[in-house]
Amino acid sequence: MIRQSVLAALTLAACEAGPDPGGFREELLDPDNCKECHPEHHRQWLGSMHAYAAEDPVFLAMNARGQRETGGALGDFCVRCHAPVAVALGKTTDGLNLDELPPAYKGVTCYFCHNMATVDGMHNNPITLAMDGIMRAEVSDPIANEFHLAEYSDLVDAQTLKSSAACGSCHDIVNGNDVHLERTFAEWRDSFYSDPDPDNPQLKALYGNTCSTCHMYGKTSPIADYDGVPTRRLYDHGFPGIDLSLTDFPDAELGPALREEQRAAIDDLLAPSVCVGLCVRPPENGGDGTDIVVWLHNEASGHFWPSGATQDRRAWVELQAFSGDQIALASGVVDDQSSIDAAAAEDPTLWLFRDITYDAAGDRTSLFWEVADYESNLLVVAKEAGAKYDKATWDERIWHVDGPIDRVSVRMKIRPIPFELFDELEADGLDPALRTMVPTFVPAGTVIEWTPETAEMTDLEGPCVKSATCFDVISMSDAG
Ligand code: HEC
Ligand code: HEC
Ligand code: HEC
Ligand code: HEC
Ligand code: HEC
Repeated sequence: MIRQSVLAALTLAACEAGPDPGGFREELLDPDNCKECHPEHHRQWLGSMHAYAAEDPVFLAMNARGQRETGGALGDFCVRCHAPVAVALGKTTDGLNLDELPPAYKGVTCYFCHNMATVDGMHNNPITLAMDGIMRAEVSDPIANEFHLAEYSDLVDAQTLKSSAACGSCHDIVNGNDVHLERTFAEWRDSFYSDPDPDNPQLKALYGNTCSTCHMYGKTSPIADYDGVPTRRLYDHGFPGIDLSLTDFPDAELGPALREEQRAAIDDLLAPSVCVGLCVRPPENGGDGTDIVVWLHNEASGHFWPSGATQDRRAWVELQAFSGDQIALASGVVDDQSSIDAAAAEDPTLWLFRDITYDAAGDRTSLFWEVADYESNLLVVAKEAGAKYDKATWDERIWHVDGPIDRVSVRMKIRPIPFELFDELEADGLDPALRTMVPTFVPAGTVIEWTPETAEMTDLEGPCVKSATCFDVISMSDAG
């Protein structure tokens, strides 16, 4: 390979001058400098929310609002996670100058994850960097290259529970009022997914799932475009969750393509995540009409569903019941450009999953730093794998219709950000027109339809249908 010999020649020349590939150098900070040898990792990362974390216009406006309202007391609270390298190197103290910083300092960069030395806590990013020229991950016998030294680290190895502690320490937020606002790490840690040692060997596959097991799919491939490297496992760096870039980052050409790739990855992640049961039966306590019962179960999220920024997430059940060709009941039927909060205000039966946050005076607020208390309505994750199939970890809701019903359709929807937030942050520079870019996802596995012909007697109540994403409750709980 020509590239290697040119670089080798350069390095030989450089060696005489003395730069040490194990020492800290400014050029290690810029993800663009990793592209030549790790093009696939680079492209995937560029489409991830990690690359977007300090470009995100919602973030920039909310941080600006926070600095304004607290008279700067917010300090580096937000940027310490959204641009951690800039904070570590003293390039910003409040995130208000992010526009002026080069890309090397913005977002959760390659260097930040691959140069971690210690994780000294469970929230608010307590990670320290080694600040050397060694890139650390799960390879214990890396082929030498002249740009950086490489070394194994259990903080960056998807197989270790310690790697979840590293991810989790940023994915868990306690605000200045001691409110545990985002709890992804705590939810995972308290669930059976973090248990390395199952009692029941039949359920073993469910245990010891780290953040990266689910969020980084692996494939067989070389991991560097470089002479002499073997075939290993290459792990996807797109980190799909729920959120997408709202603007064309990094540019108008690449941005839309990366967004479509990320949208497809989110669809794949979401598809099996929730199990839906749908039963139609006469009212339990007698009386006329029909009861429609929807059962929901967090089937494949290693934490609550949704998780993380749950004060901003909106997930809901869309239900339509028909009698002949008449709609007998509709709840949560909201098109992709309409507000779900407005629909919920009109329809008290709308089944919505989110956190509602309150300030110290007990009024609703969507501003992090004001939050003094919250109410939470999310699909939980079980503490033990056996309990995963226990009805206590399912959620149930009943709708009543006066007449008979011959068809019901249900699906779930999830949206990362409520449209109202755009109005609230307009004065701090957020373009309200960007709300049209907010995606609404339908997890494919949640789309089901009930008819008397397709319904069967199940372990739920009455003639029911269940989505293909549900494990069989009875056989699994027998196994446990
Ligand atoms: C000149 C080519 C080159 C450049 C530039 C380069 N790398 Fe590498 N990198 C390699 C090679 C070669 C390996 C070893 C691959 C192997 O053994 O299969 C490697 C391995 C790694 C590993 C695995 C370490 C381990 O032991 O698990 C990480 C992480 C990594 N590089 C990150 C980066 C980052 C981040 C950048 C940009 C700051 C970067 N690399 C730039 C060539 C390069
Ligand atoms: C949010 C943290 C994070 C960021 C940001 C990140 N990585 Fe990684 N990277 C990981 C983890 C975790 C692994 C180990 C995956 C495993 O063990 O399955 C990894 C593995 C690697 C490896 C080893 C081969 C592989 O695929 O497992 C290379 C090379 C690498 N990353 C390069 C990069 C480059 C280049 C960037 C930036 C363009 C980057 N990483 C950004 C977390 C990150
Ligand atoms: C330095 C703190 C930090 C670390 C370490 C970190 N993340 Fe993140 N992560 C973030 C931030 C900040 C965002 C969101 C950026 C935004 O939306 O503006 C994010 C976004 C994500 C998302 C996308 C969420 C969504 O709704 O789309 C996933 C998934 C994710 N991270 C997983 C991981 C995993 C897995 C690891 C460990 C390998 C990890 N993160 C390590 C800070 C971090
Ligand atoms: C068993 C698989 C699994 C494990 C383990 C797992 N996740 Fe997830 N994660 C998912 C799925 C599926 C989704 C999409 C549904 C949802 O929002 O829960 C998701 C969503 C997310 C989101 C977006 C949440 C939202 O609703 O906006 C973040 C952030 C995230 N995960 C981070 C993490 C971190 C950090 C860890 C480790 C502490 C982790 N995940 C462990 C499967 C997993
Ligand atoms: C401990 C690390 C941490 C801190 C502190 C933090 N964030 Fe984040 N932020 C994250 C992570 C992780 C995500 C992704 C969570 C998810 O997708 O569920 C995120 C997502 C976001 C998003 C994405 C869109 C959304 O859904 O809300 C915005 C905006 C945001 N943060 C703003 C802020 C602001 C403003 C502050 C300061 C008041 C802040 N963050 C403080 C880690 C942090």
